[in-house]
Amino acid sequence: MPQPSVLLIDPDRSSASFLRHMLERAGYDVQWAPTGKEGLIAAWRDLPEAIVMEMDLPDLSGQELVRKLRDNPRTQRTLLVALTELSTPEVAKACLEAGLDEFIIKQTDAIDMLLRFLARRQAGRKAHPDSTAPIRPGRLLAVLAAKGGVGASSLALNLTSHLAQIRSGRPILVADLVLPMGSLAEITAADPHEPVDVVSLTQTDPGALTPEMLRGSLPTPKGWGFHLLPGSENPRQAASLREEGLAPLLQSLRSCFQIVTVDLGHTFSRLSLLVLSQADVILLVFTPEPVAATLVRRTMEYLDGEGIPAQRVFLLANRPYGVESLSGDGLEKALGMPIAAGLPNLGSNMTLCNNLHAPLHLRFPEETSTHSLRHIAEKLLQRMDPAEIENPRRGGGLP
Ligand SMILES: Nc1ncnc2c1ncn2[C@@H]1O[C@H](COP(=O)(O)OP(=O)(O)O)[C@@H](O)[C@H]1O
Ligand SMILES: [Mg+2]
Repeated sequence: MPQPSVLLIDPDRSSASFLRHMLERAGYDVQWAPTGKEGLIAAWRDLPEAIVMEMDLPDLSGQELVRKLRDNPRTQRTLLVALTELSTPEVAKACLEAGLDEFIIKQTDAIDMLLRFLARRQAGRKAHPDSTAPIRPGRLLAVLAAKGGVGASSLALNLTSHLAQIRSGRPILVADLVLPMGSLAEITAADPHEPVDVVSLTQTDPGALTPEMLRGSLPTPKGWGFHLLPGSENPRQAASLREEGLAPLLQSLRSCFQIVTVDLGHTFSRLSLLVLSQADVILLVFTPEPVAATLVRRTMEYLDGEGIPAQRVFLLANRPYGVESLSGDGLEKALGMPIAAGLPNLGSNMTLCNNLHAPLHLRFPEETSTHSLRHIAEKLLQRMDPAEIENPRRGGGLP
């Protein structure tokens, strides 16, 4: 078992060395940074489990430091504790509002309080790995197809490409979990020489799945604006996917990317259920025809039975082929729930773009279809994170 790591940010060398000694005695692996800026660099490079910091720093205010840490996906969920000389209630309040977990004033019993707090939180994290996460991880968008060939993969890619445009500069990922054979690397023309894919990453030690490793090794297909986690190349490879590796992989991806879109295709398995149960939004793609309506209803019943609320589902009627036997009210009646969005048949444009390995907005920037896709992406974003729309500053400042 590796020792839990703590980053100490404290400009006072003697205070820091005493603290370090006490923390090391309690079993922590301790790093030290004397300034806020050096602290940020160390935090984002080493990803400590907890950061203990003086709020009275030479270069940043404590509140600024907390905000910068919270606004970066790498430290969004790190335990942040102030151990400080500053004792005004205003400072404490501002820092806690910025996302600090605990404010401890440097006085006689401060170290005991700190050690007790760290031990308690660590025990809590072990018992409930997700429930004690201070700040929400990256948004998870699951894309599910009511049946094969409804356009799930094309939409997962094109909509996420719009999300990447809207969230320009933020790290965004599309992961291909269509088993036993994915198609996203083929559609996006991701570099076929990249050594990683979803199967190999489930076999990788979770400790090695650092943001540096993930962002460094996952390809960024040209023109799409996101990183891609390629899927299984063939059924033989799919058979070696390590199921227990999927949960830690998802967690690592979500601490590294602000949005993670997962194409599940038309697969219902324990693995897809893991993604569905964690998803912030489930984009359920179907074609407006009676057969698909029945399948949508059955999918909804299945999700309900698994405890996944219907409000998380975003129903998208897509028309990959010209025929359309249901529309509007009739369709919603057949489904028993409202449709969130619809996309018309795009003739040969979508298929052409897939064959050219490009998003639609790149080839047909002015076409109605591009505007429709953008509009759907905006709606999805709103469903994923309503607060972000109202307050776009949160989640900013990314590398
Ligand atoms: N709205 C649409 N209009 C025209 N063609 C579409 C539309 N949506 C998808 N397609 C085409 O349908 C085919 C199947 O799409 P794909 O994304 O592979 O579906 P799935 O992943 O659900 O199997 C592709 O050739 C794609 O270009
Ligand atoms: Mg597909």
